[in-house]
Amino acid sequence: MTNRPAYRTIPVFDQRPGTLPVPTGAAANPNATAHTLDTLRRPLRDLRISVTDRCNFRCSYCMPKEVFDKDYAYLPHSALLSFEEITRIARQFVAHGVQKIRLTGGEPLLRKNLEVLIAQLAALRTLDGEPLDITLTTNGSLLARKAQALKAAGLQRVTVSLDGLDDAVFKKMNDVDFPVADVLAGIAAAQAAGLGPIKVNMVVKRGTNDHEIVPMARHFQGTGVVLRFIEYMDVGATNGWRMDEVLPSAQVIERLQTEMPLVALEASAPGETAQRWGYANAQGQYDPRLGEVGVISSVTQAFCADCNRARLSTEGQLYLCLFANQGYDLRSLVRTDTGTSDDTALAEAIGNIWQGRTDRYSLLRAALPPEAQGTGARRVEMSYIGG
Ligand code: GTP
Ligand code: 5AD
Ligand code: SF4
Ligand code: SF4
Repeated sequence: MTNRPAYRTIPVFDQRPGTLPVPTGAAANPNATAHTLDTLRRPLRDLRISVTDRCNFRCSYCMPKEVFDKDYAYLPHSALLSFEEITRIARQFVAHGVQKIRLTGGEPLLRKNLEVLIAQLAALRTLDGEPLDITLTTNGSLLARKAQALKAAGLQRVTVSLDGLDDAVFKKMNDVDFPVADVLAGIAAAQAAGLGPIKVNMVVKRGTNDHEIVPMARHFQGTGVVLRFIEYMDVGATNGWRMDEVLPSAQVIERLQTEMPLVALEASAPGETAQRWGYANAQGQYDPRLGEVGVISSVTQAFCADCNRARLSTEGQLYLCLFANQGYDLRSLVRTDTGTSDDTALAEAIGNIWQGRTDRYSLLRAALPPEAQGTGARRVEMSYIGG
């Protein structure tokens, strides 16, 4: 294979982190045809692709207004991966075992013609020859308008973020005065388009929206929508995270149990982020017609041991953990002067990088004394690599 520059600097601006040298040379699993494992024997299954670093919301836990203001330096258009570049990279991930692709942002529906990318990704096949599970995380603001076209392009399902049912609470969380009704209309449109099973993610901040837990559960019970409560995380470096604003999932379940009986359900897939709870009937048994809720406990019960997720930033940096502070520049392997379409080096790089992966941030954080948690290192922002 060709000798590629081992290190390529990109301008580091704002909270965006640095670049690690891309390991080159033949990997144990070169040019990809098999399942690739990392140093903790975790397979590569889930690729999250951020298609824009912009968003029309300013959720305080993700893109606080004071930092993401009119002077914030978003990526220039020329830095973004094109749809063709994304698909070339995704194809090599799939060849290393990826079965699920999640499009994220920022807000992914702000990226023009996203359906074109979805159609390209929908044509890929897993190592077993199956279609990929293609999904998207959205704040729902543009969903009512786009649901049909997304489905037609090959998107299978969507996950919508919604942090409360009360307008005042939700507007405080999104910080741009966006009303609940418009997100609910987006969810309804997604249901009508067949983009299910639909999941709704609610980030819980103690003292801000935790009184919305039970109303949200009541609202979505029996609708086929799976509501998931997410512990507020110390991701990024700008949200001013404090442990006392985290409501542990165990308390979320306790609060729900007082109003509506729940029974624990089995995980539906290895490496799943959520613990599932089913609504019970009068006999105390899970009733599928009532549906289920989930809790995602990345602070109080780290799930790194099975983490099978890789993240590709908007400009083509590969991150091995949500809490990483450095990525690997894959864009330089698909955007070459020679215009080559030989992806051997790309495939080798992905194999090498994943095989060297040791990341398990949340597990390590849990071992720190409380006063040291959530402090320290510059970390990549979630709006840059997606949720
Ligand atoms: P499905 O269950 O397949 O729909 O997807 P998912 O649960 O993997 O995806 P989703 O993007 O909806 O994840 C929900 C939330 O869990 C994210 O918004 C994050 O807050 C959190 N999360 C997802 N992946 C990770 C991860 O790898 N590490 C940590 N610490 N948190 C994660
Ligand atoms: N803690 C937990 N989840 C977060 N998200 C963004 N920031 C945070 C955070 N600090 C997740 C939410 C949102 C998705 C886009 O990213 O789940 O729905
Ligand atoms: Fe935008 Fe989602 Fe971040 Fe809120 S959580 S600012 S909607 S990307
Ligand atoms: Fe995976 Fe990192 Fe999240 Fe752990 S903290 S589950 S390694 S992304």
